[in-house]
Amino acid sequence: MIELGDHRFHPLWLRDNCACPQCRHESGQRLLDTRSLPDDLSVLAVNGYEVAFSDGHTSVFDPDWLQAHAGVTRPRARRVWGAEIQDDLPSAPYDEVAAGGGALRRWLAWVDELGFAILTGGPTEPETVTRTAELFGFVRETNYGRLFDVKTVVNPTNLAYTGLGLGAHTDNPYREPTPTLQLLHCLASSTDGGENTLVDAFRVARDLPPHDFDLLVQLPIRFRYADADAELEAETPVLSVDARGDVQAVHYNTRSVQPFRLPADAVGRYYEAYQRFGRMLEAPEYRIQFKLGAGDLFIVDNLRVMHGRTGYAATGGERHLQGCYADRDGLRSTLAVLSR
Ligand code: FE2
Repeated sequence: MIELGDHRFHPLWLRDNCACPQCRHESGQRLLDTRSLPDDLSVLAVNGYEVAFSDGHTSVFDPDWLQAHAGVTRPRARRVWGAEIQDDLPSAPYDEVAAGGGALRRWLAWVDELGFAILTGGPTEPETVTRTAELFGFVRETNYGRLFDVKTVVNPTNLAYTGLGLGAHTDNPYREPTPTLQLLHCLASSTDGGENTLVDAFRVARDLPPHDFDLLVQLPIRFRYADADAELEAETPVLSVDARGDVQAVHYNTRSVQPFRLPADAVGRYYEAYQRFGRMLEAPEYRIQFKLGAGDLFIVDNLRVMHGRTGYAATGGERHLQGCYADRDGLRSTLAVLSR
């Protein structure tokens, strides 16, 4: 290992990360293909931050760059939450956020860190929801269209279009990839009930007994949606983990889940874990609740924060929401650019 500044580096790592014009394009993209480096590469001489390698190349390293890139990467900062944030919801006026700049940056940072955010007092015109998604990214068009309407209809094809309450769920787990963001905008709201509920499923997953957590990670289940024009089906575990073992995605939807096809001796244990998780999702200690007024909107990270609603009277008053999907990559890109 070679000592440079406060850290020690492997010779291959240093050579691989040379930033000279021969090894790195001015765009920042790499020109050097790691596979071209000899396996027995060594360092012949070190002079300050100048390093001479056995392949004949000499590199000069930027101390700040080395400092920033040494060691093991840390996971993205995220703050899991429960009902304790009810009195301090991440909410901002629509006009301020739509104007861009610092207000938009702060709103997007909430979504990145908490998995949701609210906008209040916006327009009540149709398509406000897709225009809001375009503040930071791109609308994810699906078989439901660029946007979908949520209101009570006669002969509904989806339970979302009735006045029934809906338990906490993630949207569209039958899609691969599943949309990572969902926005819901309220155009009209004069019914009793119909309050929106949100749950940070990462917090709930963290509180599961470890053997339940493991079963929900290890055993895949299926989700499906079909109508006259579409047939969508995907297999995924309820909880997906990243390379560190931290939960990175949740798929849970009691309307589109299919019969479990599991090893016979696992079914009983699986139901135990599945039921515990599902019931915890409805527990008051994890849930926040708010009612969208006309012009209000919320966005959720659809692989993390689950949404539901309380029931509302299907006659008398009007409740009309429009929703659309978008993805995290656009949001994080805009957040990063605004944070420069
Ligand atoms: Fe939904």
